[in-house]
Order: sequence, then structure tokens, then C-alpha cells
Amino acid sequence: MVPWLNDAVFYEIYPQSFYDTNGDGIGDIPGITAKLDYVRSLGCNALWLNPCFDSPFKDAGYDVRDYKQVAARYGTNEDLKALFAAAHERGMRVLLDLVPGHTSEEHAWFKASARPAPNEWSGRYIWTDNCFGGGDGMPFIGGEAERNGTYILNFFKCQPALNYGYGERRQPWQQPIDSADALATRDAVWDVMKYWLDAGCDGFRVDMADSLVKNDTPDKAYTCTVWKDLTARLKAYKPEAVMVSEWNRPTQSLKAGFDMDFMLEWQGNGYSWLLRNYDGATDSEPKNIGKAYFCKDSTTDITKFLDDWLPSYEATKADGLYCLITGNHDTVRVAAGLDESERRLAFATLFTLPGAPFLYYGDEIGMRYQKLPTKEGGYFRTGSRTPMQWDQGANLGFSTAAAEKLYLPVDPAPDAPTVAAQDGVPGSLLETVRRILTFRHAQPALGACAPFQVLYAAKNQRAFAWQRGDADTGVLVCAVNPGTEPCAVPLAGRKVMAPLFVLGETPSWQGGALTLPGQTFAAFGA
Ligand code: GLC
Ligand code: CA
Repeated sequence: MVPWLNDAVFYEIYPQSFYDTNGDGIGDIPGITAKLDYVRSLGCNALWLNPCFDSPFKDAGYDVRDYKQVAARYGTNEDLKALFAAAHERGMRVLLDLVPGHTSEEHAWFKASARPAPNEWSGRYIWTDNCFGGGDGMPFIGGEAERNGTYILNFFKCQPALNYGYGERRQPWQQPIDSADALATRDAVWDVMKYWLDAGCDGFRVDMADSLVKNDTPDKAYTCTVWKDLTARLKAYKPEAVMVSEWNRPTQSLKAGFDMDFMLEWQGNGYSWLLRNYDGATDSEPKNIGKAYFCKDSTTDITKFLDDWLPSYEATKADGLYCLITGNHDTVRVAAGLDESERRLAFATLFTLPGAPFLYYGDEIGMRYQKLPTKEGGYFRTGSRTPMQWDQGANLGFSTAAAEKLYLPVDPAPDAPTVAAQDGVPGSLLETVRRILTFRHAQPALGACAPFQVLYAAKNQRAFAWQRGDADTGVLVCAVNPGTEPCAVPLAGRKVMAPLFVLGETPSWQGGALTLPGQTFAAFGA
């Protein structure tokens, strides 16, 4: 484990919506640098930036046109280097978003690959050998290029898949993962990684990390082989750099050398029962609101989450971190599913479970999900990508541009939450997040890798209690009751413990049982 991860708390920034310093209506890199002290004041000591590279922005920058060039709308490569330096001065780290599975259809590599005459890039993307042929089960595009073939897509139409080879090969055009072309693709991605590591970045969040090799085995053995190679190169080159995968299968990703994986919201999985429980994450009309564990009146117990999360955590805790998120640029905002008091308890829980937590910008002040038309391939995700709300000024302090020139409109509600309105106000959501993270950093037992054990989790019961730490770190007992009624939590054999941190009313301790009043979270020395 890279040592700095044990105390890392990440803040995800969608660069177009954080802070605009030149009044063009779009957030920029100097804007992120200008707000580093704010991010640090939350207790976040690491950033993940969504892609900030040259792009036609048909998928918000996940369609990269030039991996080594900061998009003009965000500034220059020098601005990004200045951000790395300013972050490091403050003891903070910066992860960039690496999109290895596909490029934009406008990338120079793809344009060369589409030419009829064979050239260095002909085999860097996945092309069939016949312009009238299908994609052998994969989405494909035909009729767009002079080359006699169709090409395979990784995501949207604008995102042709780079060639890392095939596991099972059924067609002559499907190459093995160690073909010269597939190996050249690996080298090209490593070259990009090295470029930004040299510039000062501290690692990468890796987009669709499980998608590289096609026709892979169910446990992604071939894709894991590719990642073992790339993560080993990273560790040999810059041992303190880290990689977090968008994968949601730590038994695969962490064994393949990633430092961290995310628990993501997949329909009906453990995460989806924790904060949101929408019937459809791809649906802009969330259903099932009120049934997530942290909803006050929910009948859902914590086992819905634990049944999924715990086996993966146990199987991989020696390999890396399985990380929990408040949300991200692909999810509906947490404020759409939980009210403010519910979110306090959810954040206290997320930030005291193992792993390095990821806080999505604006969740700390309760930014709301907005119903908006799609922007840059966002579709339902657009509503979670609106400008950060700093103060009561024009455009809520995000930009000096005319409102109609903004990347996306700011929250129009008269009571739109802002940093300024909550800063220094005891009990505000912002100050609660700061309190929780201050507590986390002060307690070695809450480090990302400190041991974890369930103390109490039961079917049809609202309370959940767990232990963190060991003899080296000291031991803490944490307990949460998201319901409105008091709950007795049997903790047989434990002594009375002093509460070190409480949200809500102070719990009481009688005869080996803890009574948690409704809507409380508490952590005790043990
Ligand atoms: C990932 C990103 C998402 C993007 C997709 C294609 O899921 O998080 O925003 O659209 O990959 O790159
Ligand atoms: Ca700008």
C-alpha cells in the first residue's frame, strides 16, 4: 500500500463546473488552483479531475483528441503543472483521468488508422476486414471511412475502441493481446501516463478500466494481464503514484495492481441500496425514492449493502482499497435521494468505513440534482454537473460571464445552498463534513487500511455498528441509526465507552446495550 493513501480523502472535480477565472462561462484549471485552500479546508487532501484534455466534447472530454494537451477552454499545460505544484505545496495530490479504452474519432491516431493505405496506426483500433461486415457482437460503425472495414466502438459513436487484443478469437481480424499492434497500444498509453507523471501528477483514475480486452473471460483475465503490466511500469517509475479503477470488481482490479477500485452504483447492488436506490440510474425520473438505507422512513437494513460490499472488502483488503463515493459525475446527486439530516449520517458512515472516501464537488454543501437538457453527452448525468455554488453573487460566484453563456445554468432556487452561507455556521452541512473529516484524520483507527469488523447488523433492524482499528491504531466503535425511533444495539462484552464524536443526540449505554436515539451517528473509544 502506498503510504499516503492511508490518510487520503479525495475530492472529485468536474473542471468545466468548478470555478471560472477568465469569465468565459466555463470552469478552468486556474480556477481549481484558486480554490485549493477551500478543498483543503474540507479535510480533502487529494483531487481527481475529470478529463481536462483536448477534445470535441461529445462525451464531456471522455472523447480525448490529444492526451498530452490540456483543452484550451481549461487553460494550458503550464496551468496544469502550476496546479500540481500548488497542490503539492499544500500536501495535496492530484489524479488525472486516464481514458485508455478509446479515443475521440478526431484523434490523429484514429484518423491515420482509418486511411486505406496500411500505416503505423492501422492496427491500433479494432477494424474488421470488410466494410459490410458486422462487429462480431460488438457495436461498430461502417461506411464512415475509406478503409475497407468497420470499426468497433467502446462507448458512444464518437469513441472508437483502441486495440488491446482479444481473449477468445473468433475472427481473423481479432488479434491476441500480445500482437505487435496490441503491445504498441499499451506502450502508447504508458507514454501518456509517463508524460503526466513527469509533469507532476500523482496518478490516475482509470476510465472503464475493465473494458480493454474484448471477448475476455468472465473474470477478465486478459484485461488483468494488461493492467499488471501497466501498473508494474507505473510502480517502477514512480512508486508513490496511484491508480484507481472504474471497475467495481476489486477481486479483479486490485489483484491486477490497482491501488483502489470504486464501489459504483449498479442496479440493485449493495451501493444502490445505501444512498439512492433509484430503480434506474439511467432514468432521469428516479423511482423508489425513500427506500435507501439512509432514508429516515426506509425499511431497508444495512445487510443489503453489506451482503455485496463485505465479501469483496474481505477478499481484497490486503491488496488495496475498495472505495466509497458520495456520488460522481455519472450518478444522480445524493441530495436527490436523501434530505440533509439523512446525508449527514450517510457521510459520517461513508467517511468512517475502510477505504479512501471520494467526495463529489458540491455534495458537501448539498448541491441538488437539476432537471436539464443533455449537454456534451451527459443525458441524465447533466443534472449532476452544474456549476459549483460559491456565494450569493452573480452566477452564485461561479463566473462573471452573462448567465446565458455559462457551461450549464446554476441552481435557480432562491435557497440554493452555497459555501458562503454555510462557512463557519455551526451545524451546517459544510461544517459537519469538516467535523467528520477532522475526526477521521485525527483517529489512526479510521485510516483507509485500518482493520474493520461488523459488530451489529441485522435483518429488519435499522441500526448498524462496526469496529475500526487494532492495538497499533487504537480501537473505535462506530454506530449509526438512520431511523427516527431509538434502537438498542447489543454489544455484549463491551465496557462503557466514551463517545468521541456524535451527530444527533448522545447515545446511552445500559447493561451491555447501546441505545441510539433516532437519527444519530456516534464513535466511541474502546
Ligand atoms: C466512464 C465515465 C463516463 C464516460 C464513459 C465513457 O463511465 O465515467 O462519464 O461517459 O466512461 O468514457
Ligand atoms: Ca474559464
